[in-house]
Amino acid sequence: MNNQNITSLLQEDRLFEPSEQFKQNASMSSKKEYDDIRKLAQEHPLEFWEKQAQNLHWFESWKTILEWDYPHASWFKEGKINASYNCLDRHINSSHKDKIAIYWEGEPGDTKSFTYSELHKQVCKMANGLLSLGIQKGDVVAIYMGMIPEAIIAMLACARIGATHNVIFGGFSSDSLRDRIQDSQAKCLITQDIVFRKGVELSLRQTAQEAVLQCNSIQHTIIFQRTKHQCSVSSDIDILWHELIENQPDNHIAQGFDSEHPLFILYTSGSTGKPKGLLHTTGGYLTQAHYTFTRVFDINNEDIFFCTADIGWITGHSYVTYGPLSAGATILIYEGVLVYPDAHRIWNIIEQYKATILYTAPTAIRTFMKLGDQFPLAHNLSSLRLLGTVGEPINPEAWIWYKSIIGKDMCPIVDTWWQTETGGIMIAPIPGIIATKPGSATLPLPGILANVVHKDGSQCDINEGGYLVIMSPWPGMARTIYGDNERYKKVYWSEYPPNTEHQGYYFTGDGARIDKDGYFWIMGRVDDVVNVSGHRLGTAEVESALVSHPAIAEAAVIAKPDDIKGNVLIAFVTIKKDVNVDINSLKQELKDHVSMHIGSIARPEDIRFTESLPKTRSGKIMRRLLREIISTGIISGDTTTLEDFNVLEHLREEE
Ligand code: WTA
Repeated sequence: MNNQNITSLLQEDRLFEPSEQFKQNASMSSKKEYDDIRKLAQEHPLEFWEKQAQNLHWFESWKTILEWDYPHASWFKEGKINASYNCLDRHINSSHKDKIAIYWEGEPGDTKSFTYSELHKQVCKMANGLLSLGIQKGDVVAIYMGMIPEAIIAMLACARIGATHNVIFGGFSSDSLRDRIQDSQAKCLITQDIVFRKGVELSLRQTAQEAVLQCNSIQHTIIFQRTKHQCSVSSDIDILWHELIENQPDNHIAQGFDSEHPLFILYTSGSTGKPKGLLHTTGGYLTQAHYTFTRVFDINNEDIFFCTADIGWITGHSYVTYGPLSAGATILIYEGVLVYPDAHRIWNIIEQYKATILYTAPTAIRTFMKLGDQFPLAHNLSSLRLLGTVGEPINPEAWIWYKSIIGKDMCPIVDTWWQTETGGIMIAPIPGIIATKPGSATLPLPGILANVVHKDGSQCDINEGGYLVIMSPWPGMARTIYGDNERYKKVYWSEYPPNTEHQGYYFTGDGARIDKDGYFWIMGRVDDVVNVSGHRLGTAEVESALVSHPAIAEAAVIAKPDDIKGNVLIAFVTIKKDVNVDINSLKQELKDHVSMHIGSIARPEDIRFTESLPKTRSGKIMRRLLREIISTGIISGDTTTLEDFNVLEHLREEE
C-alpha cells in the first residue's frame, strides 16, 4: 500500500429522494423508525445485532453475542442453528407453505418452479441421499453446477446435514476446479451433465471428470441430468442424482449446529493472485444475509426477486439462496446469458414473471446500454419497483440510464457495496428512507461502522480519498481463509492492528471518499490506483468520465510507467453499438472530455479501442492483465479467472 492519499476529482451533486409512490408501500418509510434503529445500532451495536438474530429460528439460544479475539470473531457462540431449517421448515409451517420459492427459466426456454413445501421435500431427499453416501457433518462438498434450482437444493442439503459446501462457478476450467477441490479437501462433488450457454451445451461433467482424476479426496461424484439425454455413470464413484434420491424419504429432521459451524467456503473471484477460500460460518452469516436482504431490498410478501448473479459468487449465496429463502421470498433465477438469443431476453423474463426487484451488476448494465434502449423499451417493465447493483463502482451515466430507462424514474436504485469477505451488504441505502446519489453506495447500514482513513489510520477529511475500513466486527464477516489463517491476518488485518484507540480495523482493499453528507463513494481497488505526476487517482473516476461520453460503452484505465511523469494513463475503451465515429477524432475528443470532466491531470496519454475488455467471470475488469500487456507485452500472472481468453489475444494483436 502506498503511503500517500488518493486524489478524488469526480464531482456528482445530483440527489434523488425516494418517490412518494415507493414510500407508500415501503416496509420502512418512517424516518422515526429508521432513526431509532440507527440509534440503537450506534449506541448498543451488540443489542442491535442480537435483535436481528432473533428474526431467525434458533434451536438453542446464545449466551455470548460477540467474542472478539483479534482478528477472529465468534457470533452468537453458544447458539444452535440450522441454515436449511431457516430457509425451509419454518416457512412450511406457515402460510408460505404453498408460496413459490423458486421460479426458474432455462436458457432454451424450459421452466420449473418449486413451492416452499416442494423445495423442502427435494432438499430432504438430497440430504438423506448425502447421508446414505456417508457424508457427515464437517465434510466438505464441492458443487460445480450451473444456474439451476438443483444447485440451490444441493447447497441447502449440505447445510441441512452440517456439510460445508464449496460452490465452484460452473464456468471454471478443470484446472481451476481441481485447485479449489484440492484446497478444500472436498469429499464429494455434485455436478451436472451439461449447462446451456449461448445456445451451446457445455459438458460440466466432462470437465469435472478431468479434475476429479487429480483429486484424491473425492469419494463420490453426484451427477444431475439437466437434459433428457441418457447419462450413464463411468466410474464406481459416480452416481446419478435421480437414482441417489429416488428411494430417499422426503423428510429429514434438521438439527441445530453450533452458530460457528462452517456453512461454506467460497473462493474469491481473484482479480489478483491465487484464489482465497473464504470461510463463512452459520449463525452470524445468516443473520446478516437475512437482515440486509429484507432491509435493503425492502422485501414484501408479493415480491418476485430477480438476482442475475450466478450461484458461484457470494451474491448467489447471500441474495439468491440464504437471504431470500430465509425470508420466505420468491426468487426468480435464469440459467443462461442475459442477452441470449438476443438483447430482449432479460426484459422478456422480467415482463413474463412480473419481477418486482432486479439486482444485477454494473458490467451487465453497461452491456444493456451498449446494445441500445430499444430492447428494454419494447417491454412492459412496470412490475419493477426497485433496482439494485453490486460488484463494481457504477458510473453515474449507467446509474442514470438504469434509473430512467429501466426504472422509468419510479424505482429507487440500491447501489450495494460489499465483498465475498463481508458475507452480506455493508454500505447501501434503505430505499424508502435514504436519498440516493448516482455512483454512491450512500451510507453504511445500521450496525456497520465503516470509515475512510489515511495510511496511519487517522480519519480522512471530507471528500479526501483514502482507504475504506470497517471499524468493528460484524456478524457476516468471513472467519478466516480456509487453510491459511496467516494469509487472512496479513491481507485483511495487518494494515490497522489494534492500538490504544481501537480493536483493529478490517482493511477492505478498496479506496473511497466520504462526502459532506456522509455518503461513501467507492473508488475501486487500491491496487488499481494510479500515480500520475505525484497524484494518486482512482481509475474508476477516469473510467467514469470516459463512459459519460455518448459513444463509449466501457472503459478501463491503467498506468504505464513514464520517465518524466512517473506514469501516464492509457485508456482501453469499447464503443457503443451502432455508433459511427471517426476513431482519430474520437481519440482527441475523449482526451478533451476527460480533461474537462476531471482535469488535465487525468488526461489519458493514449486511447485504445477494443471490442471487449478482459474481465473476471463475475464481470470485474482485470486491469492487472492490461497493465502487463502494456508494460511487458507478456501475461505472467494468474489468468484462471479470466472470462474469455480471446480478449487477451485480440489486445495483444492490437499492440
Ligand atoms: C467491488 C461482490 C463499488 C469492490 C459482492 C469490492 C463495489 C469488490 C461494489 C468485492 C459497489 C462490490 N460499488 N465497488 N456497490 N460492490 N464492489 O468479493 O472493489 O466479488 O471490494 O463481492 O467488488 O467483490 P466480490
